[in-house]
Amino acid sequence: MSRILFRSMLPLLSLLLAACGTVATNVWEITEVAPDREVVAIPTRVPPSATPIPPTATPIPTETPLPTATFTPEAIPSTATALPTSTPEAPAVAMPEGVEPLPDGFAALIEAGDTAAGLTVFNATYTMPNGQPWACASCHSNTEGELRLIGPGLWNLGLRAGERVPGEDALTYIYNSIRHPNQFIVPPDASGAPYPPNLMPEGYGEVLTEADFANLMAYLLTLQ
Ligand code: HEC
Repeated sequence: MSRILFRSMLPLLSLLLAACGTVATNVWEITEVAPDREVVAIPTRVPPSATPIPPTATPIPTETPLPTATFTPEAIPSTATALPTSTPEAPAVAMPEGVEPLPDGFAALIEAGDTAAGLTVFNATYTMPNGQPWACASCHSNTEGELRLIGPGLWNLGLRAGERVPGEDALTYIYNSIRHPNQFIVPPDASGAPYPPNLMPEGYGEVLTEADFANLMAYLLTLQ
């Protein structure tokens, strides 16, 4: 029996011995390695755990659909570019009633106009159909600064004329404001003081020749 017992215990003993050897070696190895691994492992894990935070914060700017909205405005200009193509319909912003279009060839007369002769017209006194004598220069300054006399200063007239009345380009506006002064009354100046209607005399269209008129307009367009 004792033999059998001993025999049956042999594997156990050898296991124990082997275990002792193994454990001793393992413990020694672990104690050697562990300090290194732990020291290395901890700092290594900290940054990664800290790194995930920025990425989590990054999604927010990414979520911001604003850059996407920036693309939309870009698309708008291209749509706007298409509009001018359909502008032929824009004459829907027709010239206000009673506005005289420039006579054929008149723009070319202005283009070739004699500006010195135009200044002479500006300063000359004409007798209006109602008998009153008037010169443009009596009521309008023609110097830088747009000094207001009775009417608005005409410096920079060419720059603002095209924006006065929807449907009227600069030449059409100037042409009509001399021939039909009451059709459109200039808005109040910067001080808020209004310009009265029926003050600029009607009738220049009757007393000025076509050439005088074209030269006068050519001259007015130099005031800038
Ligand atoms: C008795 C004064 C008077 C005389 C003369 C006169 N104007 Fe005027 N003019 C005015 C007044 C006031 C206005 C502003 C009210 C209005 O719109 O009618 C005006 C407006 C204008 C405007 C529009 C200016 C703008 O800023 O839009 C033009 C252009 C103009 N006159 C040109 C002339 C010319 C050119 C002559 C001469 C051929 C002339 N005027 C003679 C009083 C006068």
